[in-house]
Amino acid sequence: MLRTRFCVANWKMNFNCTDTKSFLESWNNKELNNKEVKTIFCPSFTELNTGVEILQYSDSEIGAQNVFYESSGAYTGEVSCSMLKNIGCQWVIIGHSERRSIFSETDEMVRNKLDQLISERMNPIVCIGETKTQRENGKTQEILSQQLSIAFENQEDVNLKNTIIAYEPVWAIGTGITATVEMVSDAHKSIRNIFNNNGFNGSNISILYGGSVTDGNATELSELTDVDGFLVGGASLDVDKFYAIYNQL
Ligand code: PGA
Repeated sequence: MLRTRFCVANWKMNFNCTDTKSFLESWNNKELNNKEVKTIFCPSFTELNTGVEILQYSDSEIGAQNVFYESSGAYTGEVSCSMLKNIGCQWVIIGHSERRSIFSETDEMVRNKLDQLISERMNPIVCIGETKTQRENGKTQEILSQQLSIAFENQEDVNLKNTIIAYEPVWAIGTGITATVEMVSDAHKSIRNIFNNNGFNGSNISILYGGSVTDGNATELSELTDVDGFLVGGASLDVDKFYAIYNQL
């Protein structure tokens, strides 16, 4: 099976409605000739509607940066899957390292979010990755395995058709330090093996790399067999840089 390739923009807590409009309007004027690459923009909750509207005739899609794992109720400040679906947002990033470290999200919470997304037929972008200390202590593989086995413990292969994994080494996010091609290649291979060893078909799952991806390093990373695209933070805030990354996939 040919895996889908993705170029995903994680705008984090940047861009108001005016910024979102002007970015996506200029995106709509670009030629998207890389037909096998799906592009997804993930703005803040307040900009999702604007994004969906501007991209309604485009092949690009909109995703959220977070979701809660209950369907409704007394959860002040949270947003549910059905609220996102209702405005035409099908993709959601979960388990981002900033949510794990700043907002204390655990692997179990990531699992609950994944379960909720899949039961509501939405498409998860599940982020995993090791910290600098974990890598230095030779624990990368163990951490990836732990994050994946907890997140996917209630899932079956048939449910994962539109699920994306983003491998994002924590030490490479927003630091300008990209993982080497060897590190990325090894990590993506082990992620596929972890899936294979847990009853899934790892070769069907799109695995993106994230962590200081720029228009200067995208080509060498995208040439790796097991890299199926990118999750881009900083460089996704500049429409021309993001377009250059898209064209290198
Ligand atoms: P970065 O962020 O590209 O700025 O390193 C990536 C991410 O956090 O998804």
